[in-house]
Amino acid sequence: MKLHTALAPFALTAVVSSQSKSLESIVSGSTYWYANILHNGIAPTNPSSNYTIFRNVLDYGAVGDGKTDSTLAIQNAINSGSRNAGTRGSTGQPAVVFFPPGTYVVSAPLQNYIGTVLMGDPIVRPSLKASATFQGSTVMKGVDPKYPGLVAFYHEIKNLVIDSTAVAAHTKLVLLDWSVSQACQLSNSAFVMPVGSAHTGVASTGQNSPLLINDMEITGGATGWTGASTQFHLKNVAFRNVTTGVRPTNTVQMSIQGCRFEGVGTGVDMSGGTLGMLNMFDATAVSTQALVLADAAQTTSQGSIVLENVAVDGSVVATVKAGSTTLLAGSIVPGNAWIRGNMYNGTASSATPQKASGQKIASMRPAALVSATGSFHTTRAPTYANFSSEQVVNVKDVASHRVYGDGKTDDTIALQTILNSAAQDGKIAYFPHGTYLLTDTLIIPPNSRLWGESFTELSGSGAAFKDAAKPKPIIQIGRPDSTGIAQFTDFVFTVAEPLPGAILVEVNMAGPRPGDVGFFNTHFRIGGARGTKTNECATIELCKAVHIAAHLTKSSSSYWENSWAWTADHDLDGGGFGSYPSPAGGFLIEAQKGTWMLGWGVEHFVLYQVTINSASNIFVGLQQGEAAYYQGTGNTLLAPAPWTSNLLPSDPSFSWCAASAVSCRMSLYQRVVNSTDISLYSGGYWNFVAGPDRTFCSKDCQDNAVLYENNKRLVAYGVSTINNANLVVESGPGGSRYKVAVPHKGNEAAKKDVFDSAVVAAYLRQSA
Ligand SMILES: *[C@@H]1O[C@H](CO)[C@@H](O)[C@H](O)[C@H]1NC(C)=O
Ligand SMILES: *[C@@H]1O[C@H](CO)[C@@H](O)[C@H](O)[C@H]1NC(C)=O
Ligand SMILES: *[C@@H]1O[C@H](CO)[C@@H](O)[C@H](O)[C@H]1NC(C)=O
Ligand SMILES: *[C@@H]1O[C@H](CO)[C@@H](O)[C@H](O)[C@H]1NC(C)=O
Ligand SMILES: *[C@@H]1O[C@H](CO)[C@@H](O)[C@H](O)[C@H]1NC(C)=O
Repeated sequence: MKLHTALAPFALTAVVSSQSKSLESIVSGSTYWYANILHNGIAPTNPSSNYTIFRNVLDYGAVGDGKTDSTLAIQNAINSGSRNAGTRGSTGQPAVVFFPPGTYVVSAPLQNYIGTVLMGDPIVRPSLKASATFQGSTVMKGVDPKYPGLVAFYHEIKNLVIDSTAVAAHTKLVLLDWSVSQACQLSNSAFVMPVGSAHTGVASTGQNSPLLINDMEITGGATGWTGASTQFHLKNVAFRNVTTGVRPTNTVQMSIQGCRFEGVGTGVDMSGGTLGMLNMFDATAVSTQALVLADAAQTTSQGSIVLENVAVDGSVVATVKAGSTTLLAGSIVPGNAWIRGNMYNGTASSATPQKASGQKIASMRPAALVSATGSFHTTRAPTYANFSSEQVVNVKDVASHRVYGDGKTDDTIALQTILNSAAQDGKIAYFPHGTYLLTDTLIIPPNSRLWGESFTELSGSGAAFKDAAKPKPIIQIGRPDSTGIAQFTDFVFTVAEPLPGAILVEVNMAGPRPGDVGFFNTHFRIGGARGTKTNECATIELCKAVHIAAHLTKSSSSYWENSWAWTADHDLDGGGFGSYPSPAGGFLIEAQKGTWMLGWGVEHFVLYQVTINSASNIFVGLQQGEAAYYQGTGNTLLAPAPWTSNLLPSDPSFSWCAASAVSCRMSLYQRVVNSTDISLYSGGYWNFVAGPDRTFCSKDCQDNAVLYENNKRLVAYGVSTINNANLVVESGPGGSRYKVAVPHKGNEAAKKDVFDSAVVAAYLRQSA
């Protein structure tokens, strides 16, 4: 490492005020703990022995002085280590490119790659400033050119400011191209554009399938976010002085939660049939012309809207507007919802929709899920900015307990010892990038803060997890009824081989505050990458790779923000389809004290993506799901096979399907049973291909999407499907069992590309 002298003035101030850290801070240009610790991560599947994970842009010659052109230096930091050479795949080239505080001038587009985290100092966020002579149409090409949008996973940007205020206002500049899919993170960042300019903050064009953008500020410009993402959850985004905040071009389902619109022309422009369904809740607006711009008439379900707890002041001209007509003025106060679209209520045995064309109804939220203002609790991903580098344990730097993270050596016992003492000392446990093999349950004690790096992998392996009849956790968060802090940031939970007796993650702990037990940008991957043997399974039946991805038990209370539980339907690292893993269940939620799921995707599990069973106080901000693609026409392994002899009491029996009904015996996306106080927003349930040959399927490829059985105080706003015959099937105790409550027919929305979509705005038949 070399010394850097050209520090931004505020970084120097920080250095002077922190005597003990001054030397290391000068070296790294940052006072943040993460910049000042040993980085000894490895990419276990990368053959280059000197491949470097952590890159400080100052080491590559970038200068954050607001003057020096740092384009080449930053690009060199990103490129270092023959990125994308040969077949590194999606998982073989992890990198963190760190920006100390400062203003880095760039004069041409920067290109990011898969597996790469562009990370600013969170204490004083650095700025990438496009120069007045900027050449090009995009400041940050955030997407690896080798990966089309639908397979552009594992890209990250956090704690950065991108500033285009020096660039001529009339240019059609895009600050960030973000045509990415699941397991991508864009958070705690800002886009600053000239007010009234033609610039666009974030563009997610073409086909792409991201989950969440969170904790952002977008200022100035023509458009804040635009794109054709299948679904999206925007959480805590402040739009200031933007002409149009959000402009979908072909999106099926969207949640906009806790966002603020100030000095905006149009908050969300969904006119022209560009959005299937908008859920806007816990929003505020001031000095805004129209918070939502919709079409005058809703002829199909396309363009459905639910507004809930939307506070506008007198300076907002229209809350919802169509053409020049105001459809709604003023606020929707807590306890009410405003609905445009089909609404299913009443307890009559045959469910018929009520068309709501802008109707206020009474709504309710469980008290355990909301803050004093009535908004659903949210929190920000931790940065531990107030920790010093002495308050961090690098799990690979403890001499007495050697940990390898090499995907080969068993790290279980050493890690357990290190985590126990880190919790006792209140230290962050930093896991340099690598694959940490676990051959027995790793117990996460209260007072744990686990920090990963470009998706550090915790991977289960071995005999302890083989018995399908006795599922056992690989990672267990606390013991039943324990309380305290347990946080995970930037991890992937995975398995090295098929483990039919594994529960990848079991959460028992409850945090004293929402987010204390929290999972941030933390994902599940079952098969589909190097480092797992599931691609070697002879058949689907022999590939019961895990029993359940996550079990949130009765005593738990947890907060999940940006999590994708993925059963591989293809190989991320170039190996073709391989054999298809067939894990039974995605998320099994039996928690009662408060659970928050934001920007959440669960895909390709064979019995269910999500089961909420005998649970209470569950908030879902957006759940995206996809079917198990071998199921459907032509499949002979009908659910509950291959798990028939190892079903748990909470598993669906599929007793509502005829024995040979191929398109009925398919995984449910969401099943809620015997539960109370359930607030569900934005379900997006997609089926694009069906059967062992994965034949493209364009209509009703699957019978049933969600099943609501015997619940109280359940509200579901925004259930969207692609290629499902029935959106909601329901059942009550004693009454007529298993009937279709919400069919595709009558709820048709626009086509998404060549596929049929359907949307229901509100399902309230179990809301009493
Ligand atoms: C890493 O190794 C490669 C191949 O051995 C070599 O060309 C390259 O210079 C090395 N890079 C560094 C930073 O040492
Ligand atoms: C930005 O919007 C605010 C209202 O929130 C307004 O007072 C201010 O004049 C606007 N700034 C510019 C530069 O247009
Ligand atoms: C829906 O029906 C239930 C049961 O009849 C009733 O309690 C509730 O108020 C209704 N909700 C709306 C929004 O009409
Ligand atoms: C950091 O701040 C949090 C929240 O205020 C506090 O609970 C924690 O003890 C602080 N940690 C350190 C190491 O200062
Ligand atoms: C739901 O409750 C009913 C009635 O108490 C019971 O028969 C059924 O087994 C329960 N379902 C599950 C999945 O626990």
